Amino acid sequence: MTDRQTTLPATALPDAGRPAEELLAELRALTAADLPTRGGRTTAYTYDAGRPEVRAAAEGAYLAMLEVNGLDPTAFPSIVALERQVVGAVAARLGGDAATPGIFTSGGTESILLAVKAARDARPEVAEPEIVVPATAHAAFFKAGKYLRVKVVAVPVDPATFRAVPEAMAAACTERTVLVVASAPSYAHGVVDPVAAIAAAAAERGLPCHVDACVGGWLLPWLAEAGAEVPPFDLSVPGVTSLSCDLHKFGYAPKGASVLLFRDQAMRLAAYFACAQWPGYPVVNSTVQSSKGAGPLAGAWATLQALGADGYRELGRAALDATRRLTAGVAQIDGLRVLGTPDATLVAIGTEGEHPVDLWELADESRARGFFLQPQLSVDGLPASLHVTLTGVSGDGVDALLGALRESHDAVRARGPVAPPTEILALLDGLDFTALDDATFAALLPATGLDLSPEAATRMAGVNRLLDALPPQLRDQLATRFLSALYSPYLGA
Ligand SMILES: Cc1ncc(COP(=O)(O)O)c(C=O)c1O
Repeated sequence: MTDRQTTLPATALPDAGRPAEELLAELRALTAADLPTRGGRTTAYTYDAGRPEVRAAAEGAYLAMLEVNGLDPTAFPSIVALERQVVGAVAARLGGDAATPGIFTSGGTESILLAVKAARDARPEVAEPEIVVPATAHAAFFKAGKYLRVKVVAVPVDPATFRAVPEAMAAACTERTVLVVASAPSYAHGVVDPVAAIAAAAAERGLPCHVDACVGGWLLPWLAEAGAEVPPFDLSVPGVTSLSCDLHKFGYAPKGASVLLFRDQAMRLAAYFACAQWPGYPVVNSTVQSSKGAGPLAGAWATLQALGADGYRELGRAALDATRRLTAGVAQIDGLRVLGTPDATLVAIGTEGEHPVDLWELADESRARGFFLQPQLSVDGLPASLHVTLTGVSGDGVDALLGALRESHDAVRARGPVAPPTEILALLDGLDFTALDDATFAALLPATGLDLSPEAATRMAGVNRLLDALPPQLRDQLATRFLSALYSPYLGA
């Protein structure tokens, strides 16, 4: 027997089945160490509508469809009925109509993968396809590029506004370009790219334009109704040919819910996959997954129905108010500033001036005070920041968040500057990550300040400082090795 086998947990598969109550108790114990998913103190990853009756509707609907398989819409016509309603509701709000073709997917990344696949497959004559994206586009486009062997041309954005520059985007288009992308808004800075100009320039060249409204699609319309200035971004904008909008973000639906809309049917057809050339059942899929639970679709449908337009309007108004209060409060803290002028309720807190603040220490200190702020690394001249997504429940906590930020800021200042990780950088310099196995990599971790234990997650400043100092390619290598070690059964906690 190898070490690996001897240290597998004995409970991996019990001989005798265990009672549900015991299992749920174990789940409760395990999730006790997770960040809280409700209440707005985890200012990324989670979107809480703060309404128990809406959650109950989503939970009931999810469970009711738990075993329905989205693989075959002829066997389970309920999924067609639900998907039509969900896609129709999103299309109607985002510049489409009842005839707008769409696909319900598992999330933003899948919607983006399919948008890129559709654009690539619509142009089979292009041997080496490229997509042109702003440098602030979500990582999902880089993932799509890797998965689909499409080159991603990332165009620098305006360094003051963090918005894409339409002329630069247009100049990056070549005969190999199959898709042009704009964000509404970008995740990192919460600003909406000049969609109309980017889409017009794409259309002039006969190119499709995808708007990544994954985070903002189901937020911006309600913000506009609440009086915010929202630039045009949806399918009503000439030249926009597809758009992604996640319902598991500001739709407040359970995770696994996004909608991809297309201007025309031909592009949706290019996203589909069919295979009847094997001896089993003929496969025809609209999504990457084949067999899939209908729970997320039913959960999203129930959330939309339970909240209704009025519910979203109210949540949008509350999130906007919270954002304005946070932005004003951050401006009062010496050395901190909000990057750019957010168009949505996503805020990047950066540092500047004569007294810059160590953002990584600030994040740890804030976490110790109950608020998780998401670190965003500097890249290609874009400064580092801490991300805050404000939702409909954030309002109650804004004063507490600002209080925590002020206290954390004072604590970080009092401690003085932290030395750059020069020694660790020297250690990593020239190291061939690909030549290490997980055990050797794990043995190196203490020297780098990386730690696999769950407790270490609360003090990430050293890790973030190190990642920020590394070139992006090394960051990616280090992060993937870290993930591999984390999931190795014989390592870590
Ligand atoms: C603008 C944008 N696009 C794409 C994504 C990816 O979405 P997901 O995490 O659901 O795959 C996100 C996630 O935050 C996003 O903000």
